[in-house]
Amino acid sequence: MTTALSDDERALLEVARAAREAAYAPYSGFKVGAALRAADGTVFNGANVENAAFSPTICAERVALPAAVVAGHRDFVALAVVGGGDGPCTPCGVCRQMLYEFAPDLIVLAAGETGAVGRYVLGSDLLPEGFGPRRLGS
Ligand code: THU
Repeated sequence: MTTALSDDERALLEVARAAREAAYAPYSGFKVGAALRAADGTVFNGANVENAAFSPTICAERVALPAAVVAGHRDFVALAVVGGGDGPCTPCGVCRQMLYEFAPDLIVLAAGETGAVGRYVLGSDLLPEGFGPRRLGS
């Protein structure tokens, strides 16, 4: 499945891979790193942060996205996610929904420690018929 990636895409995956090291994942042992590129080229990273109460756990993507938004960014072009194991670590449903709010056309690059890298378009590949702000007239 490994798709041809641009130099920018490979660089974004490397940021996500490095961000993974900052994960706090003592319960699952599954470290995830994310790197979100805004339209002006700024990159925000994130890693998953787990919690003893389990449900407050936050994914790497939802660490990166709000950091970008509060820094004033609302246009995003690409996201890289790197998790454990073999093959693409695709974003969970909650993260897909959060990202869709700002960037239905987002390019999503997903990888594991080894194996294929997946390249997807958020709205058409990962959240078809998604619910977004236009539905509310926003
Ligand atoms: N996780 C992420 O950080 N991003 C995803 O897209 C999938 C799952 C995290 C949440 C939890 O800390 C661990 O991976 C296992 O589910």
